[in-house]
Order: sequence, then C-alpha cells, then structure tokens
Amino acid sequence: MRKPALMGNWKMNMDLSSATGFAGEFFKLAPDSSGEIDIVIFPPFPLIRPFFEAVKQGARWSDFVGIGAQDMHPAERGAYTGAVSGLCLKSVGATYVLIGHSERRWVFGEDDELIHAKMMAALGMTLRPVLCVGEKLESRKAGEHEDVLLSQLDKAFGDEVKNISSDISIAYEPVWAIGTGVNATPAEVGPMIDLIRKWADKSGLKGGGESIRVLYGGSVTDDNASELYAVDGIDGFLVGGASLEAFKFAAILEAMIKGKA
Ligand code: PGA
Repeated sequence: MRKPALMGNWKMNMDLSSATGFAGEFFKLAPDSSGEIDIVIFPPFPLIRPFFEAVKQGARWSDFVGIGAQDMHPAERGAYTGAVSGLCLKSVGATYVLIGHSERRWVFGEDDELIHAKMMAALGMTLRPVLCVGEKLESRKAGEHEDVLLSQLDKAFGDEVKNISSDISIAYEPVWAIGTGVNATPAEVGPMIDLIRKWADKSGLKGGGESIRVLYGGSVTDDNASELYAVDGIDGFLVGGASLEAFKFAAILEAMIKGKA
C-alpha cells in the first residue's frame, strides 16, 4: 500500500505557459521509474486542468502522475467567494490535496481546527490528503519540535483517527527549512519520520505507522536528495523551489530511483 512519491508544490510560481512547458520538458527528461514512484504535482488552481490534460498526452506517464490542489475549502459548496471545494477539484482531475501547508498555517492564519475540518472533508470526498506538519525555528531551538509535531498530528486527525484507513501521506516540513536553502539534515529528519510512524501506531489509525507514506520537505534539491532519501523509513519528498524546473525535478527523481536500486 505504501509507495514512494515525489511531489512538487508549485505554490504561486507558475502560469499557463510555464506549466505546460514544464510538462513537455519533464516528460522528456524524467528517467523511467516504471510506476514504482508516484509523481504528484500541485499546480495553482487554474492550472490543474491544463496540467491534467498535458499529463494525459504523455502516454507512459498518465498512470502514475497524479495532480493535486494546494488547498481546499472544507465545505462541498456554498457562499464562500474565492474558495474552491474538494468536489470542484475532483471534477477537474485532482486526486490529491495539500492540507495544512506551513504557508497556509503561518501566512494565511489557518488553525488546527480548520485543518482538521479540511482533513475530514478531503477524506470524505476520497481526495488523498497530504498533511503537512513541522515546527518553527524557535520550537526546534527550545527542544519542543517533537511536541509541536505530535500536537499538530493529534489535532489534524482528531477523534476520528480510528476510523481512518485511507491512503494518507504526511510530510514533515520544518518551517525553518522551507524556501530557505537550509534543509534539515538526515540526522534531524530521521527521528521525526520515526515519530510520525510511532504516533500513527499509538493513535489507532487503521494500518498504523507502516501504512502511511511519510515524506520530507524543506529545501530539497537535486544536490541533497540522495543523502536525504537514504534516511531510514522515508518515502520521498515534497519539493517547492526545485519542482519549478523540470531538469531539477527529474534529477531528484533519478536520485530516488538510484537510492532504492
Ligand atoms: P521548498 O518548499 O522546497 O522550496 O523549501 C517546500 C514546500 O513548501 O513544500
């Protein structure tokens, strides 16, 4: 059930021509992972459909390239100007959704309650959530990073955790490593990956820690992907900046293929 994945979060950094350009270039450059590594791109909302169409044209890719949204509103429909529902996302080809990305938490002020509502809504609509968790620098310095992570996990899943058996991905993304060029080291990432799996075992999540996909995100590049992918138990990456350039994203995929060879 657990399959490695390479995910690219484009944030607000692409337009129609760069998105379709990326697709053309990436599908030429990317090494063949024979479907053993899922590739998921999270474009800005209006680019989900065009990117979906571009993927469908690349025959050998269409089965294992997924498309996701960077956020969703928890309601199915209603008077929420500017928001996008999971139902709408599914209708344009999205199968994944990022929930609780640090920019949603810290730039847009999303709290744990809203993140929980979005998790439940995504699962209810059979969108595959990628829950992002991670501490700020001051928490790491104070030695509170594990507590922060456990609290984010508890609150995102809530009391419903025991009923959840879906395909869950959790991305450990320390806030201080996102977009800074300073990635967490393998020695810092390893214990957090372990902590997430142990939390899943204890929480009663169906399938436990072994069933969930655990990713790392935060300044992953083609230079550090190999050493990070060697971390015990890691299932892949959520990549921001380096997912904007097809050759860099393809090089990260190559590092993953070599890493598990
Ligand atoms: P980054 O972003 O790779 O640019 O650090 C990661 C993310 O925000 O998911």
